[in-house]
Amino acid sequence: MKIQLTVNGSRYEKDVEENRTLLRFLREDLGFTGTKEGCGAGECGACTVFFNGKTVNACMVLAVEADGGSVETIEGEVKDGKFSVIQEAFDRNHGLQCGFCTAGMILSVKELLHRNPKPTEDQIKDGLEGNFCRCTGYTQIIESVLDASGQLPKKGELHHA
Ligand code: FES
Ligand code: FES
Repeated sequence: MKIQLTVNGSRYEKDVEENRTLLRFLREDLGFTGTKEGCGAGECGACTVFFNGKTVNACMVLAVEADGGSVETIEGEVKDGKFSVIQEAFDRNHGLQCGFCTAGMILSVKELLHRNPKPTEDQIKDGLEGNFCRCTGYTQIIESVLDASGQLPKKGELHHA
């Protein structure tokens, strides 16, 4: 079946099998490999993208269901060769190690800060509960989000459970 999809502002039209996920379509058919496949079962958040303005797990959406829609991936966060405020905050605060979770994490942070520009630590934890990170222990991710939202406290003031 032929589908049309806008990805990061560019329009694509391509044949796709009916059982192909949006994740595989983005990665393997369109080359947006910044979106990662972790669990493939809607559990880990590594495949998070924006679909029609809301974050979704791309492994749980069929490409044919996305026909006519609009997707934003991590590649769309770099504008004119510059990282976004959130990406820079992750870089500054060591919010990534292996980086496997990072694309999904950053898009979930974007969605969170859109809803709530100054989230508390607890609100950050709630907002990112669908995104798993095996490396960082989350502390640096929380600091990155506090930094990105202009509320990074001085070192030593954070209280992590
Ligand atoms: S790969 Fe989609 S949620 Fe894990
Ligand atoms: S940085 Fe490795 S999984 Fe998060």
